[in-house]
Amino acid sequence: MSTPLYFSDDLEVDMEAFVADRYSARFVLADTNTRLHAEPLAKALNAKLLVVPAGENHKNLQQAEKIWQQLLNAGADRRAVLLNLGGGMITDLGGFVAASYKRGISCIHVPSSLLAMVDAAHGSKTGINMGGVKNAIGHFYPAEAIFIHAALLDTLPLRELQSGKAEMFKHGLLGDAELWQQMTALPAAARPGRALLERAIALKTTIAAADPTEKGLRKLLNLGHTFGHAFESYFMYSSTPWLHGEAIFAGMLLEARLSNRLGLLSEADLDEIQRVLQNWQPAGKWPPLALILPWLLNDKKNHSSQVQFVLPVAIGSAVYDQAVSVADLEKWYPQLLEG
Ligand SMILES: NC(=O)c1ccc[n+]([C@@H]2O[C@H](COP(=O)([O-])OP(=O)(O)OC[C@H]3O[C@@H](n4cnc5c(N)ncnc54)[C@H](O)[C@@H]3O)[C@@H](O)[C@H]2O)c1
Repeated sequence: MSTPLYFSDDLEVDMEAFVADRYSARFVLADTNTRLHAEPLAKALNAKLLVVPAGENHKNLQQAEKIWQQLLNAGADRRAVLLNLGGGMITDLGGFVAASYKRGISCIHVPSSLLAMVDAAHGSKTGINMGGVKNAIGHFYPAEAIFIHAALLDTLPLRELQSGKAEMFKHGLLGDAELWQQMTALPAAARPGRALLERAIALKTTIAAADPTEKGLRKLLNLGHTFGHAFESYFMYSSTPWLHGEAIFAGMLLEARLSNRLGLLSEADLDEIQRVLQNWQPAGKWPPLALILPWLLNDKKNHSSQVQFVLPVAIGSAVYDQAVSVADLEKWYPQLLEG
């Protein structure tokens, strides 16, 4: 059964109506940036506010443990609900905490970044990072509902908004050519409207529903993520971390070039993908292969010393389980960087 999705113009009223008397206690989880939205919501819902530091490097066991402890201290029982108001870091962390607390309490996602609205909040994946490996620990654990309140984006920094567009381009590139066209037609600084959000969400939820635990088809959603996660992990503790979406933009570009090199993607489609994605690439020096190889091989999508990729084969179509040997990557990587 898919998670109910609500587009809400008045979060406090709509959430109160949904939460009603279903739960024994209400908790709102936010980070230090989304707290400004979470505080009034918690007040209106008579919920306890739990705040963690913002940033991907806090999506970890230490923060999960602190939240579990706060839930215990507050006497939360199995009928409590956790409302996760934040970007993908909060929906992943809050979902993970909810999945494990007392063997699972209810959670509701209120995504507040574009990336979380179109991607992270949907499809039931939760997770935390460990030992520098992204999402090393996690569950498939569905939220009870997802509320999208577009006005939350008013306070989202522009760089974060742009990062969120990566997943929308990704959804278009892997499975919806019309979405890809619509995203390319959107002015660079514009915020996508509800129709685009719905289209991007539909692609994700349809694929996730067809393959909830990622045995096959759902791997398509990892387009751009093999290189992308490696870049994101490599830069995470540097002085110039890449945002998740920025890393995915870079990953999609390199994976499109790799696909062309393997004879899976035509020159014409590669040209179009490069024309669009080159406008969205993170600045700065990209690391040599040797420095990201540990993450490419640690990536949980890989089964052996070969690296598994999802590769675009046309605009609107991709294939998964494409194994490339480390030797070939070593040969091709410098050319993939140059295009
Ligand atoms: N579970 C999944 O299926 C899935 C899919 C894609 C990504 N993810 C995860 O999502 C995370 C990336 O998501 P993200 O880009 O939203 O990261 P994020 O949650 O770290 O949010 C990015 C930044 O924006 C801030 N922010 C969020 N909403 C705001 C608002 N309305 N106003 C002001 N500031 C706001 C946050 O505090 C943070 O500083 C990664 O951890 C990634 O692994 C999960």
